[in-house]
Amino acid sequence: MGHSCKNNRTFKNHPPYRATAMSRLRIFNENDPVTPEFASFDADFIATELHRIGVTFERWKASQPLAPGASPEEVMAAYREDIDRLVAERGFKSVDVVSIASDHPQREAMRAKFLDEHYHQEDEVRFFVAGSGLFTLHVGQKVYEVECVKDDLIAVPDSTLHWFDMGEEPSFIAIRFFTEADGWVGHFTGEQIARKFPRYEPDKDA
Ligand SMILES: [Fe+2]
Repeated sequence: MGHSCKNNRTFKNHPPYRATAMSRLRIFNENDPVTPEFASFDADFIATELHRIGVTFERWKASQPLAPGASPEEVMAAYREDIDRLVAERGFKSVDVVSIASDHPQREAMRAKFLDEHYHQEDEVRFFVAGSGLFTLHVGQKVYEVECVKDDLIAVPDSTLHWFDMGEEPSFIAIRFFTEADGWVGHFTGEQIARKFPRYEPDKDA
């Protein structure tokens, strides 16, 4: 299987990523966006809670240090074993690397794209090489807010309602896994729920 690299830019112009950021899960009732029923920074707890709703959460380790400016090929080489394992398990057809910096001229539009509740007809699978982002999943009567940081892998199953916020100053490098060749389509539910829940403020509560 070949890995495609749609984005051949290098990453040397990125600002430094927060070194202290931790993965976090908060679980809310869908009617109470203020007080979480559960909160954890512990990767094992997070993985266990997310496993109950069919979401895979893993922490990966780079096999070699990545220098600022690493190419997509170098990024993928550093996580090759985990990438190959996941591809073999789940039959992905392509893998790419995306990179978004806080001064990206289209950051507002890019952020806005997936801020409302939607689903996809394939799994949404992302590995954070650097930086962070906020996935929020709406499953049954619960809302699972997952702050993903460096070394986090999240696999949101096909048809799971969710939204994604990269924040006002997006800053991440992510490896994406795809099973369909015809692009990434979001089906929006038209519900306003995402607007009631916290948006992503990376430095808050850090
Ligand atoms: Fe999505």
